[in-house]
Amino acid sequence: MKGVGVQTPRGDGTRCVQGGHPEPEAGQPLLPGPVFAAPYHLGGEGTDVYGRAGNPTWRALESAVGDLDGGHCVVLPSGMAAISTLLHTVLAPGDTVVLPSDGYYAVREFVHDELADLRLDVREVPTPGPWTDETFRDARLVLLETPSNPGLDVCDIAALAERAHAAGALLAVDNTTATPLGQRPLELGADVVVASDTKALSGHSDVLLGHLSVRDSALAERLERARKLSGAIAGPFETWLAHRSLGTLDLRLQRQAENAAALAKAVAKRPGVSEVRWPGLPADPSHELAARQMRRWPGVFRFVLPDAAAVQRFLERSELLVAATSFGGLHSTVDRRAQWGDAVPAGFVRFSAGCEDTADLVEDVLQALG
Ligand SMILES: Cc1ncc(COP(=O)(O)O)c(C=O)c1O
Repeated sequence: MKGVGVQTPRGDGTRCVQGGHPEPEAGQPLLPGPVFAAPYHLGGEGTDVYGRAGNPTWRALESAVGDLDGGHCVVLPSGMAAISTLLHTVLAPGDTVVLPSDGYYAVREFVHDELADLRLDVREVPTPGPWTDETFRDARLVLLETPSNPGLDVCDIAALAERAHAAGALLAVDNTTATPLGQRPLELGADVVVASDTKALSGHSDVLLGHLSVRDSALAERLERARKLSGAIAGPFETWLAHRSLGTLDLRLQRQAENAAALAKAVAKRPGVSEVRWPGLPADPSHELAARQMRRWPGVFRFVLPDAAAVQRFLERSELLVAATSFGGLHSTVDRRAQWGDAVPAGFVRFSAGCEDTADLVEDVLQALG
């Protein structure tokens, strides 16, 4: 496979553009199209037999993303499929699991409602802590989400991995907001990366996908087996779309971070705007820790307007922004998180900076704020 850089470690852009692409061969495409086959001709040693068990389209994306994450990657049909596959695979009845109380709400709902029969001991901790010894005691799995969604708080992956391991627990990190270019949890000591690739990794708001990356090949095999037996698999077309989109991840993230930086600074000066948080701001409470463990800043920031009506007016006055409950895409989007039940003020805005021109966005957002 191309792009991995056996001789010289390659940069982010090169690895995104070339990762998972086959060796050049005359007459063959640079990025082969999706392979939709269900059964394959039988008879070869170690060849594909059935699309649900494995196929070349998954392997191409898994090779690229696994290289970026620094582990074995398992592609799944959504971020929630990745999280639920992990939880189903590693948790047994009566186990203790630690979840972020301020992370993506569906994870907590899944654990409380869908895994109710496992009678788990569920401990919920806000991302900035406090991380007490009691939190880790007898835990089987600790799931972090850093930067957290929607609050953009950050926790220390390396320190928490050490404590989780000392307690005998696995440490998983939801790396959706950062992407593997923004943060490499496995290099910081985490056992598992979970991610919604629906967001920045694919980045065009046109596909749902997720993945798990792990360091331990035995765990990778268990996760692949869980995928094969549950039947919850990513479609080859979606997988291929994400692979095609991965090629521009480096470029997209650069522009999104530039836009987030300019916008976070600009909105912070406006009357009626409070609680602006973006880890890239030097005054942000997460800045120092994020600067240590992250490789680049995210394109998502957040702030609070006085109430829900103020968010509505902001959206109506804007010529560029749209309301949408996702992030990391080409288009700048605004999500008023209280409408989904997050424990945040009514005027809390999660802003996903897209790839529009910085000057256009700043002008539009400032005039929309009035
Ligand atoms: C941090 C985080 N993790 C996981 C998910 C779930 O991803 P998906 O919608 O691809 O299932 C989301 C979705 O918003 C998310 O924000």
